[in-house]
Amino acid sequence: MSEAGPSFGPSTRSNIDPFRVMQVLAAAEARRASGDAVFALTAGQPATRAPKPAIDAVHRALDEQVLGYTQAPGLPELRAGIAALYCDRYGLDVDPDAVYLTTGSSSGFILAFLSAFDTGDRVAMARPGYPAYRNALTAFGCELVEFACGPETRFQPTVAMLQQYADDGIDLDGLVLASPANPTGSMLPPAEVDAIARYCGRNGIRLISDEIYHGITYGTVQQACSWASDRTGFVVNSFSKYHSMTGWRIGWLLVPDDLRDRVDALAGNLTICPPAVSQVAALGALQATAECDAHVVRYAANRELLLDGLTAIGIDKVAPPDGAFYLYADISALTPDSSIWAAELLAATGVAVVPGLDFDLTDGHRFIRMCFAGDEAEIRGALAGLRAFVSD
Ligand SMILES: Cc1ncc(COP(=O)(O)O)c(C=O)c1O
Repeated sequence: MSEAGPSFGPSTRSNIDPFRVMQVLAAAEARRASGDAVFALTAGQPATRAPKPAIDAVHRALDEQVLGYTQAPGLPELRAGIAALYCDRYGLDVDPDAVYLTTGSSSGFILAFLSAFDTGDRVAMARPGYPAYRNALTAFGCELVEFACGPETRFQPTVAMLQQYADDGIDLDGLVLASPANPTGSMLPPAEVDAIARYCGRNGIRLISDEIYHGITYGTVQQACSWASDRTGFVVNSFSKYHSMTGWRIGWLLVPDDLRDRVDALAGNLTICPPAVSQVAALGALQATAECDAHVVRYAANRELLLDGLTAIGIDKVAPPDGAFYLYADISALTPDSSIWAAELLAATGVAVVPGLDFDLTDGHRFIRMCFAGDEAEIRGALAGLRAFVSD
């Protein structure tokens, strides 16, 4: 202790970037609170409630159940239900004991990263990419390798990129893959997922395959689960997006055999178990395929509306998304700095979009991300605002 008394300070590891989209959301909320209109293409979440069978199951459970702690990996019947989903969706045989429920996929990433990687391990991901991968890996002391991915590879990594590192004598320990991806919505064709998963399996690169947007696809590319090709990596998934349950914080992992005990111990110690009430809801949600597919039909219509509307006002450097509910548009013809542009757009018109810097610290200033999971009126309003702002 110094004479001035004890000194406190934050850990070095916690010195990570904030999630910038939250700042845009706060600015949009402040505008809404002051009575001005907001057309929000920001938060990556459906505007709809959880599926009806999920809500019904929760009503029953609240009346009849204690809803105490569950086993760390989750309710056995929910693990079995998710294993069955792999059979229905992909024709895959998955052992229910490989399924671990998590508190949103966000805590699944924590379990996957902690169980697979040590401080100093090199983990690759696409740039642009979902910022929480980058920031969580940094907090865990991993060395981040960003693959610069542009429209020529549809913003996705390739086996050639992995091979290039090996040829340069640089060993990678992990790869985070997202198909469909955030912020671009681009997907890897099944043959590419297969090639990457097998390459990683053969070369000791632990694959973390983020499949949380599976189910939300637009027929341009078929979705493929990485476990169809190789099971040395993790599959990460969630009830947040397809099942329209972001706030319920419930997701899952498929855990490779050699890491099950580790994930078990980490999950029990870090969170005890995911919320019991959300597990009950998730069990109901598994019965709601028709309701969830109807949302996807709506997203598909919104996607067309936004693509056409943007093209009409000259924002046409957009790779049409194969899945998820995002458009990543290159607006460098309109501004050198998309963060300033987005702030001015919000102030002038109430249209809220996310600046690309969240997803790409190098080239993100050229891009904005727009989410089209909201309702049609919001998208029409946003297009009108954009048209006025761009033509001003
Ligand atoms: C690519 C991707 N992965 C993971 C997440 C985290 O989702 P959750 O923790 O709600 O499952 C998100 C949220 O937007 C995302 O876009």
